Amino acid sequence: MTSPIVQIQGDIDIDIDEDFNPFTMILPQDGKDNDANHATPQHQQQELYFLQSINSNIVIRQLPSQGLSFQLWPAATILVTLLDNTNGLSTPLSDLFKRQENGDSLPLRILELGSGTGIVGIVAAAVLGAKVTVTDLPHVLPNIQFNVDANSQVLEQQNGVVDIAALSWGESQDMEAVGRDYDLILGSDVVYHDHLYDPLIKTLRFFLLGGGKKIAFVMAHLRRWKKESVFFKRAKKLFDVQVIHTEPPSNGSRIGVVVYLFTGKR
Ligand SMILES: C[S@@+](CC[C@H](N)C(=O)[O-])C[C@H]1O[C@@H](n2cnc3c(N)ncnc32)[C@H](O)[C@@H]1O
Repeated sequence: MTSPIVQIQGDIDIDIDEDFNPFTMILPQDGKDNDANHATPQHQQQELYFLQSINSNIVIRQLPSQGLSFQLWPAATILVTLLDNTNGLSTPLSDLFKRQENGDSLPLRILELGSGTGIVGIVAAAVLGAKVTVTDLPHVLPNIQFNVDANSQVLEQQNGVVDIAALSWGESQDMEAVGRDYDLILGSDVVYHDHLYDPLIKTLRFFLLGGGKKIAFVMAHLRRWKKESVFFKRAKKLFDVQVIHTEPPSNGSRIGVVVYLFTGKR
């Protein structure tokens, strides 16, 4: 089915389909989300995702009525598939997932920004046997904890560990608290509101430019707004930004998810 395209004021260019409507998903309810623990069953959506690389299912709870932080965004789904497909491949992305700068015996350490439901971090931990710190705004964490707990058995079987921490972009205290001891940073669909561009860049600056060690940021992104080029222009002043994967458009969209690799300019 072809999605209608809506254009507003020549500045905004949005794809709308039935499952994903940025008018309802992006905006006011975020930050005013209700307590995730009070969700009634009819507002819950639990889905199983089969991970072929480990022959296991993971289960993820979404709470669509609670706001955009409680829903699975398209870029997360692509990142999950790419994580699951890395086994045996050698691509720029799979090489990053395999990188073990800290020695073969130690797990890859990953930080995820703006985790939402936590699916990407949970899958990364399970598929890569990684130690992942998933982060988001404080009110989002109870649902992430629910999802981590729901997958504890698979995580244990795969030697994956998921820690959860509050990290509001740009907040020095939060960034200091999680530290810089990571091999890789992940993010999916974290570029959307323009007022978040600078806090996100400040966060990337802290992790990618602030320490002695070279850390890469892998960002899966579905472009919806022309103004997002502002984020990329600002980011490119500080970071080398490479496209490492382009997903073909799906569901009648004109654009697909693109995966970028950000590294600090040397
Ligand atoms: C569009 S959602 C994407 C969620 C998830 N990564 C996914 O792809 O399904 C953006 C995420 O960024 C988080 N976020 C928004 N503003 C933030 C901020 N200032 N600091 C940290 N996280 C923030 C939201 O809570 C939300 O989980």
